[in-house]
Amino acid sequence: MRLSYGQAGLSESEVGHDPIELFKKWLGQAVENIMVVEANAMVLSTITSNVPISRSVLLKDVSAEGFTFFTNYLSRKAAAINENSNVSLLFPWYPMERQVIIVGSAEKVSAEESDEYFATRPWGSQIGAIASAQSSELDSRETLEARYAEIAEKYPEGTSVPRPDYWGGYLVRPISIEFWQGRYSRLHDRLQFVRSDSQNMDWRVKRLNP
Ligand SMILES: Cc1cc2nc3c(=O)[nH]c(=O)nc-3n(C[C@H](O)[C@H](O)[C@H](O)COP(=O)(O)O)c2cc1C
Repeated sequence: MRLSYGQAGLSESEVGHDPIELFKKWLGQAVENIMVVEANAMVLSTITSNVPISRSVLLKDVSAEGFTFFTNYLSRKAAAINENSNVSLLFPWYPMERQVIIVGSAEKVSAEESDEYFATRPWGSQIGAIASAQSSELDSRETLEARYAEIAEKYPEGTSVPRPDYWGGYLVRPISIEFWQGRYSRLHDRLQFVRSDSQNMDWRVKRLNP
């Protein structure tokens, strides 16, 4: 259980001034690393009534604006974001002795962007997204499968499936991005980029004790 870390270091001189660029570099390396399963999976944490809860979602886009994922707008996470848009994202790239922790504010992407992404999804996933009232109580598996069959009959494979208005994307605009790299003797490298607000393009980088 006690691994000795030491694959690579992280120095101020090599990271540059743009954490999004550094994130893209790390994501690319994670995607290429066969030991990392689902490199674009991230843990999304939200708060409802002061109670935090986490779950995994898939990162579908990263840009200078932030990090985008797609989900159900009536889900538990959507209700939480509606109440408090402050969220955290965590990428656990354990085989690379790395993690990235992001703090920011989530907002819905445009309907056009959601339409565009929905149209690229496999037919089964499109039907599944319509069929599932995500996070609400389900009386049985059979009910869900019957609902899936009903929707599949309405929109047979090969036809265009409309995006339901209760499904779409969120963009998380970061105000803090921390890069963690495991090092020997628990002297890990932690570089945290922070900025005052998501419109400010001037990031300040600070080194944190491990
Ligand atoms: C690896 C992985 C990736 C996932 N990706 C997504 C996703 O992109 N969108 C989504 O809505 N749920 C995704 N899920 C399911 C969520 O973790 C979660 O169960 C679901 O969104 C309901 O969360 P909520 O009830 O807190 O809203 C994923 C689960 C795993 C394990």
